[in-house]
Amino acid sequence: MEISWDLMHEQIAACEKCELCRNIHNKVPGQGNPEADLMFIGEGPGADEDLQGLAFVGRAGQLLTKMIAAIGMTREEVFICNIVKCRPPQNRAPFPEEAAACMPYLRCQVGMVKPKIIVLLGATAARYILGDHIRITRDRGIWVEKKGVFFMPTYHPAALLRDESKKRDAWHDLQAVQQKMKELGIKE
Ligand code: URA
Repeated sequence: MEISWDLMHEQIAACEKCELCRNIHNKVPGQGNPEADLMFIGEGPGADEDLQGLAFVGRAGQLLTKMIAAIGMTREEVFICNIVKCRPPQNRAPFPEEAAACMPYLRCQVGMVKPKIIVLLGATAARYILGDHIRITRDRGIWVEKKGVFFMPTYHPAALLRDESKKRDAWHDLQAVQQKMKELGIKE
């Protein structure tokens, strides 16, 4: 069932389905074009995101902005969100029960935006969406199609900041995304 954005944001704001909501400043539902053909899904908000209530606005977010620009798009044209909408303490990865509690919101977002391509940023996003068998170093760059949506697992921008040698592979993955966009008639 489709609900309105306002209702979903109200539900996220009021959500206490897991412990992550106990120690946060803001929920971070995600933002961008509600009709985007291209969606980016990360792991969970960090400190900057928690303070601003916006996804990917810190250092990793600035790199994500450049990655989006590299494929000829702007942040306003795409939709950006996370597996969990509350910051996990010390930036740890969300636990399975936290990801499961938050998944209905992400499903709702995907259902409303109806993206044609979803870029999964990092192992956490890729594994919670595509399954536990995913190994990001092995499976990045390989398209997975599910119900007509194309998923591209790639490195998280924070991983690229930690290890510059991964940038080459990430660039390769982004070029594949740009190519797929052309094939699907998303952007010239
Ligand atoms: N890392 C993420 O996975 N998501 C954000 O929003 C910021 C950093």
